[in-house]
Amino acid sequence: MARFSGKVVLISGGARGQGAAEARQIVAEGGRVVLGDVLEAEGQALAAELGAAARFLRQDVTRAEDWAAAVALAEREFGGLHGLVNNAGIYRPLPLMQTDAAHWERHFEVNQLGCFLGMQAVVPVMERGGGGSIVNISSTAGLRGSPNAIAYSSTKWALRGMTKAAAVDLAPKQIRVNSVHPGPIDTEMVKVWSNEQRTKRLSQIPLGRMGTAEDVARVVLFLLSDEAAYVTGAEIAVDGGASL
Ligand SMILES: NC(=O)c1ccc[n+]([C@@H]2O[C@H](COP(=O)([O-])OP(=O)(O)OC[C@H]3O[C@@H](n4cnc5c(N)ncnc54)[C@H](O)[C@@H]3O)[C@@H](O)[C@H]2O)c1
Repeated sequence: MARFSGKVVLISGGARGQGAAEARQIVAEGGRVVLGDVLEAEGQALAAELGAAARFLRQDVTRAEDWAAAVALAEREFGGLHGLVNNAGIYRPLPLMQTDAAHWERHFEVNQLGCFLGMQAVVPVMERGGGGSIVNISSTAGLRGSPNAIAYSSTKWALRGMTKAAAVDLAPKQIRVNSVHPGPIDTEMVKVWSNEQRTKRLSQIPLGRMGTAEDVARVVLFLLSDEAAYVTGAEIAVDGGASL
């Protein structure tokens, strides 16, 4: 039987990049996906590509009501929800002395508050279904110091800690919570880097290449699947060794 047969997974920020790669792999393995994103055209196009196994809704992760709508859509269309990938995020690099409170707060709202709201929103439906798996997408910026990323780093370190706190809280409900820490992954997000910055980052990766969205997706699928039935509160770097 396909690994995701009968499973429904909600992916925030699922319109492109890593979220889209996860959606394609889950559907290829027999699962169904609800994609939330603020990018409506990309999200609708991906849902159309994936067909009957996918639904898209416009979802801003900073709004609790958008999370409620995403969960309701999963229940209405697919009869339940087994997995959540807290994947939506923003990365607007600035050094400490150029970071103002508004910049800090925007990273907090999307990358940290959004993930908190997401975990809260899915617990009741997962509990009704007998359990579930939540994967929080942090970063190597949540494992060590990262240049020009004081606001981003604060959220990704927080998400790593929130993952462990939630794993303890939710274990009695058979809901597992783990964090994934991608290194430099070749998506739209890192197009803000200059050629020099990109070359420098590459030189710091022992495996000698940028990661792909598919590299991260394969690890996320493992954590979502029953193969990881005894894994909770763990953190897995997917970074070519960059955080070593
Ligand atoms: N690309 C990298 O090098 C890298 C490295 C480490 C961690 N990450 C993390 O991986 C995750 C996915 O990023 P990606 O690389 O696919 O980049 P991406 O920019 O392609 O994807 C991020 C997605 O989040 C969506 N999003 C942003 N704000 C949102 C909001 N308020 N509500 C809903 N959706 C919103 C975007 O529209 C986009 O589709 C992010 O959490 C990011 O921080 C990326």
